[in-house]
Amino acid sequence: MDAPSDGASFVVVANRLPVDRTTDDEGEVSWRTSPGGLVTALEPVMRRNGGAWVGWHGAPDEKVEAFEHDGFQVVPVPLTADEVEEYYEGFSNATLWPLYHDAVAFPEFHREWWDAYVVVNKRFAERAAEVAGEGATVWVQDYQLQLVPQMLRALRPDLKIGFFLHIPFPPVELFLQLPWRRQVLEGLLGADLVGFQTAGGAANFLRLSRNNAERKVKGDAVEMPDGRLSRARAFPISIDAQSFNDMANDPEVIKQSEALLEEIGNPEIVFLGVDRLDYTKGLRQRIRAFGELFESGQLDPSKTVFIQVATPSRERVEEYRKLRDDIDLLVGRINSHTADLGRDPIVYRHASFGRDMMAAMYRIADVMVVTPLRDGMNLVAKEYIACHDDPEGALVLSEFAGAAHELKQAYMVNPYDINGMKDTLLKAAADSPANRRRRMRALRKQVFTHTIDKWADDFLTELRGTGH
Ligand code: ADP
Ligand code: F6P
Repeated sequence: MDAPSDGASFVVVANRLPVDRTTDDEGEVSWRTSPGGLVTALEPVMRRNGGAWVGWHGAPDEKVEAFEHDGFQVVPVPLTADEVEEYYEGFSNATLWPLYHDAVAFPEFHREWWDAYVVVNKRFAERAAEVAGEGATVWVQDYQLQLVPQMLRALRPDLKIGFFLHIPFPPVELFLQLPWRRQVLEGLLGADLVGFQTAGGAANFLRLSRNNAERKVKGDAVEMPDGRLSRARAFPISIDAQSFNDMANDPEVIKQSEALLEEIGNPEIVFLGVDRLDYTKGLRQRIRAFGELFESGQLDPSKTVFIQVATPSRERVEEYRKLRDDIDLLVGRINSHTADLGRDPIVYRHASFGRDMMAAMYRIADVMVVTPLRDGMNLVAKEYIACHDDPEGALVLSEFAGAAHELKQAYMVNPYDINGMKDTLLKAAADSPANRRRRMRALRKQVFTHTIDKWADDFLTELRGTGH
């Protein structure tokens, strides 16, 4: 395929666009920020670099023309309702998502889902090939599009192709369950550089390439039959720390945080959880831990509030529906047992909030609770740190989040160990101000020196330096 004469020199390809197109009951169309960490991280990168973002606009059976947004080109890729069901809800989110997250839910393997995954990956590759200029850099994102690097290279060998996986890359033993393991691996090896959140993910990938694709591996480079090298390395993703910090110090946000504190009854201690409603986030275990602490009186329900907000996510996938019902039930049961009349110890909202409200919540949280069973990185942990310049905040963090490799001064927990988690929650809340301050200062230093700009620069510099 020939390069277009007016093509972009930098192209991001992701399942989601930064904005989702929604239509309300009256047929009114609007665009809103898409959910998830990928969009939070990449939007500032695109604002800074310009170029084109190729992705799905979130509405099935609708074709939308490309448009300009915040200084870059948005290029929508259409999906039919069947493709949403088979490629997105099916293969991406009921096969790959659980498989890559330690199989914490059972991965389903269906041949029709795989077929849809191949068709849709092809469409993304073709669209990217149409918008990328001669010799452009194309950066493909995440598990929904693992075949795109190889497909794109076949269409446009002139491109520099990078791939970044936002979620964990599983241990070899788990990956090998995938009936289409060979195709997925070859798809990824189409990239000049494959980025992972952790060194462990990159090591799993290199081991697979050596043992299962019979490729020569030297250091972090896999040798391809045509002499090309495909490199694999860890690039831990981050956030625009300064803009979160600025947002949290905006006078309007400060007012919002004071009003929120008032609304929840000015408790002495505020714990906070912020997640997409996903079974990988460890919500069942976390809420049980709080329930037991409130019921035993180790946390005083008249002085303590646990706020948990959960963005609706993938609501047509069975495991997510079950999770929603379980959490509703669990929270209702705990509140009905332990609440004073007039105030619930667990304030739970199944809703998405604006960035300003998120910053207001982070401001008032004495203890931020991030306890996924497995998570590629977890940007919420970093957002809390960036928003909390009162040095007495505390972060309770799962050992199984990618962020645990960097945020070493957090109060670490094994989210499967409910007693251990209860002890750590109490310790984080009651630790001496000097200890909390010391930990928080170290955490802020880490987050402010490892920003999203650094992440993008590190990856793109390395990608541009790759070659035969
Ligand atoms: P994931 O990518 O799995 O969703 P991350 O923690 O990396 O997990 O990123 C989640 C992103 O979604 C963060 O930027 C966070 O601020 C945002 N978010 C999470 N919950 C909510 C919510 N209830 N309302 C608005 N934004 C949310
Ligand atoms: O990496 C996490 C991630 O899966 C992104 O790929 C995705 O955009 C985000 O979470 C939200 O999920 P979804 O796009 O399925 O709503």
